Amino acid sequence: MSSSLLKVAVLCSAVVLLGGSSVSNAELSPSFYDETCPNLYAIVFGVLWRASLTDPRIGASLNRLHFHDCFVQGCDASLLLNNTATIESEQQAGGNNNSIRGLDVVNNIKAAVENACPATVSCADILAIAAEVAVVLAGGPSWSSQIPLGRRDSLTANRTLANENLPAPSSTLETLKTLFARQNLSTKDLVALSGAHTFGRAECRFFDNRLYNFSGTNQPDPTLNTTYLATLSEICPENGNRNNLTNLDLTTPNKFDKNYYSNLLVGNGLLNSDQVLFSTSGADTIDIVNNFSSNRTLFFANFVDSMIKMSKISPLTGSEGEIRLHCNFVNDNSSEVVDLASKKSEAVLVEAI
Ligand code: HEM
Ligand SMILES: *[C@@H]1O[C@H](CO)[C@@H](O)[C@H](O)[C@H]1NC(C)=O
Ligand SMILES: *[C@@H]1O[C@H](CO)[C@@H](O)[C@H](O)[C@H]1NC(C)=O
Ligand SMILES: *[C@@H]1O[C@H](CO)[C@@H](O)[C@H](O)[C@H]1NC(C)=O
Ligand SMILES: *[C@@H]1O[C@H](CO)[C@@H](O)[C@H](O)[C@H]1NC(C)=O
Ligand SMILES: *[C@@H]1O[C@H](CO)[C@@H](O)[C@H](O)[C@H]1NC(C)=O
Ligand SMILES: *[C@@H]1O[C@H](CO)[C@@H](O)[C@H](O)[C@H]1NC(C)=O
Ligand SMILES: *[C@@H]1O[C@H](CO)[C@@H](O)[C@H](O)[C@H]1NC(C)=O
Ligand SMILES: *[C@@H]1O[C@H](CO)[C@@H](O)[C@H](O)[C@H]1NC(C)=O
Ligand SMILES: *[C@@H]1O[C@H](CO)[C@@H](O)[C@H](O)[C@H]1NC(C)=O
Ligand SMILES: *[C@@H]1O[C@H](CO)[C@@H](O)[C@H](O)[C@H]1NC(C)=O
Repeated sequence: MSSSLLKVAVLCSAVVLLGGSSVSNAELSPSFYDETCPNLYAIVFGVLWRASLTDPRIGASLNRLHFHDCFVQGCDASLLLNNTATIESEQQAGGNNNSIRGLDVVNNIKAAVENACPATVSCADILAIAAEVAVVLAGGPSWSSQIPLGRRDSLTANRTLANENLPAPSSTLETLKTLFARQNLSTKDLVALSGAHTFGRAECRFFDNRLYNFSGTNQPDPTLNTTYLATLSEICPENGNRNNLTNLDLTTPNKFDKNYYSNLLVGNGLLNSDQVLFSTSGADTIDIVNNFSSNRTLFFANFVDSMIKMSKISPLTGSEGEIRLHCNFVNDNSSEVVDLASKKSEAVLVEAI
C-alpha cells in the first residue's frame, strides 16, 4: 500500500468515525457536529441574518418550518421534499399550501453548509438551528449550546399525515391539546410554543371567520377586542382580498417578547387558536397565559424547554434516512447534485493530503 493510499484510507475511516453517523449512535447531541462541521452555527446564522436585512419576516417563516416539519413523522425534513414521481409533498397540505415560506433561504443555507462541510449536515438539523437563530435575531432567548443535533433526513413525505397533524387556526382548545398530545407535548408546551406568534404574519383567510360571521352568528367573535376588530376589518374587508397580511402580534410585530400573552389578556389574539388559550372558560391554559404575560424570564425558559422538546420528536438517527444533498429531493433522485458533492469531498480529501 502506497503511503498516500494509506493516508486516504486512514482519513476515510476518521471521517466515518467523526461523521458521528455511526449506526450505534441513536442519541441527538448538541456537540454532534463539533468535529465535522465546527462552523455550522455561524454559517446558518450568517445566511439567515443576511436574508433578514431585506426580509424582516424570514426568521419567523423559518421558525414555523421547523414546527411543521416536526409535527409530521418527526423532525426529519420531510416537509422540504418537493413533489416528484414518488413523493407527494407535504408543502401542499392544508396548513402549508400557499402559506409556508422560506424554502429558498433554507436552500441557500444548505448550499453554504455543503460548501463548508460536504454531505455532513442534515436538512432537519438546519431547520432546528434556523428556528433558534430566528428567535435570537428577533431579541428572544438563545439556546444555541443546547440544540440537539444528529437528525437525519427522511426518504419519504406524507401529505395525508400533514393534513391530520397540523393544527388549524380555527381549532378549539380541545383539538389543539389533542394534536399536541399526539406529539407527546403537554398543555404547557402548547401555550409556550404558541408564543412563537409573537412574530411573523398571517393572511386574512386564517382568521376572517372571526370578523363578520363567527360560527354562523352573523356577529364577530365576542372574544375579539372591538378596537382590534375595527383595525382587522380594514385590513380584511368582507369579500375583500383574503391574502392580505397582518402582524400576528399587533404591538411589537418583529420582536420576540412576551407581548403575545399580554395581547391575549385584552382580546388581541389574532387567530382563534391564539385567543382560545385565554378565553376558553375554566381552561387550565389561562393561568399559564397569565404567568407568561407577567414574567418574560418564565416565558423564555419555558419556550426554550418546549422548543428543545419539540425538536426531539421522532428523529431519524444513526444509519436511518440519509444526509440529503439538496433539501428538496432525496439523493437517489438528484444524481447531478450527488456528483457535484462527491467531487467536492474528493477535492477536500486531496487538499487535506
Ligand atoms: C397551536 C397551533 C398553531 C396554529 C393553529 C398555528 C397557525 C398559524 C397560522 C394560520 C399562521 C399564519 C400563516 C399564514 O398566514 O401563511 C401561523 C404563522 C406562524 N406560526 Fe403558527 N400556529 C400554531 C402553532 C405554532 C407553533 C407551535 C409555532 C412555533 C413554535 C408557530 C410559529 C409560527 C410563526 C413563527 C408564524 C409566522 C410565519 C411567517 O410569518 O411566515 N406556530 N401559524
Ligand atoms: C420546491 O417546491 C417549491 C414550491 O413548493 C418551489 O418554490 C421550489 O422552487 C421547488 N424547489 C426546487 C428545487 O425545484
Ligand atoms: C427528480 O427530481 C426532479 C427535479 O430535480 C423532478 O423533476 C423529477 O420528477 C424527479 N424524478 C423522480 C423519478 O422522482
Ligand atoms: C394548493 O393551492 C393551489 C392554489 O394556489 C391549488 O390550485 C391547489 O389545488 C392546492 N393544492 C392542494 C393539494 O390543495
Ligand atoms: C401516511 O399517513 C397516513 C395517515 O396517518 C397513514 O395512514 C399512512 O400509513 C402513512 N403513509 C406512509 C407511507 O407512512
Ligand atoms: C410518545 O411517547 C410514546 C411512549 O413513550 C411513544 O411510544 C411514542 O412514539 C411517542 N410519540 C412521539 C410522536 O414521539
Ligand atoms: C353566516 O354563516 C351561516 C352559517 O354558515 C350562514 O348560513 C349565513 O348565511 C352566513 N351569513 C352571511 C351574511 O353570510
Ligand atoms: C386588503 O385588500 C383590499 C382589497 O380586497 C384592499 O382594499 C385593502 O386596502 C387591503 N388592505 C391592506 C392593509 O392591504
Ligand atoms: C382592547 O385593546 C386595547 C389595546 O389595543 C386595550 O387598551 C383595551 O383595554 C382592550 N379592550 C378590552 C375590552 O379589553
Ligand atoms: C402561575 O404562577 C403562580 C404564582 O407564581 C403559581 O402559583 C402557579 O402555580 C402558576 N400557574 C401555572 C399554571 O404555572
Ligand atoms: C419569573 O420567573 C423566573 C423563572 O421561573 C423566576 O425565577 C422569577 O422568580 C419569576 N419572577 C417573578 C417576579 O415572579
